[in-house]
Amino acid sequence: MQEHPYVLVTGGAGYIGSHVVLALRQAGWPVVVVDDLSTGKRRLVPDDVRFIEGDIADRALIDAALVRYQPVAVMHFAGSIVVPESVSDPLRYYANNTAASLSLIAACVAAGVDRFIFSSTAAVYGEPARSPVSETDPTVPINPYGSSKLCTEWVLRDTAAATPLEYVALRYFNVAGADPEGRSGQSMEKATHLIKVACQAALGLRKGMEVFGDDYPTADGTCVRDYIHVSDLAEAHVRALDYLVAGGKSIVLNCGYGHGFSVREVLETVRAVAEGRLEWRIGPRRAGDPPALVSANTRIRETLGWQPRFDDLRFIVETAMDWEQRLIEKAL
Ligand code: UFG
Repeated sequence: MQEHPYVLVTGGAGYIGSHVVLALRQAGWPVVVVDDLSTGKRRLVPDDVRFIEGDIADRALIDAALVRYQPVAVMHFAGSIVVPESVSDPLRYYANNTAASLSLIAACVAAGVDRFIFSSTAAVYGEPARSPVSETDPTVPINPYGSSKLCTEWVLRDTAAATPLEYVALRYFNVAGADPEGRSGQSMEKATHLIKVACQAALGLRKGMEVFGDDYPTADGTCVRDYIHVSDLAEAHVRALDYLVAGGKSIVLNCGYGHGFSVREVLETVRAVAEGRLEWRIGPRRAGDPPALVSANTRIRETLGWQPRFDDLRFIVETAMDWEQRLIEKAL
């Protein structure tokens, strides 16, 4: 007999979801993944994990999975994550991130699955008036990606007030790096995120790269972000699950280290890891980039007892670089 009940993970074949699946398995939880493989990769899901290929908006499919596996909780990662794409195709973002989540939450309520862990984002803060930004600061998203995630936070808040459902919404800052054992990593073909782009440029997969603006009101003029290693983020999810299973009440938590690095500092670190093989040029600002986005993290540390293990920019970059090399060598 298995020790624990199942955890159902949507988007478990994606970048963050697959790392959370590894962390859940490590903690002894049986896992069932639902993923439509639109961006996820089947090979990122370990063999001992049940896999259902399908769309989370497919209510019949989700109802059947909830009846069959009776999960103790649902962890919801499936969604669309590219900010500029959300500006050009907002309906897709509201469909994938808001409407599909609403359908999933409704299915949970109907099935009596009353613990829900949601992938939210620092994008809900927009351009925060202060840094570090805390969970009680105003949420003023400046793109449909952030708005579509904030809508789902509201659905959860109001559903939790009216039903037995309790939730944890985790607002991720800049997630980066890869599993230190090389089992998973960021595999999106057209990545836009700084550390992945820089690793690809250092490995000659791109013709150089651009810094989007060096005239920001920061110490070196480039934007500051709070980069969090994906395995630390995964551990936060396991702790959020333990918290809800122990009877914890609904809560919103920032996920970041509480300090930031500038784009220039990140690129210098990538160049050091790549033994000098990285060039960049300074380009214009990218629309919608706040100068600094750093997480206040007292709440997650106190509520979940979460302690980061990989709060080290060089280690984050090394694991990201290792993963890029693996992708090349194995032609993944
Ligand atoms: N940057 C560059 N050159 C690049 C790529 C990025 O200079 O080629 C800069 C960006 O301008 C920004 C920083 O590097 O200043 C980080 O950019 P990313 O695109 O890696 O990440 P963002 O901070 O834009 O996005 C992150 C999350 C989003 C989330 C957002 C919230 O990845 O999911 O924070 O603001 F929506």
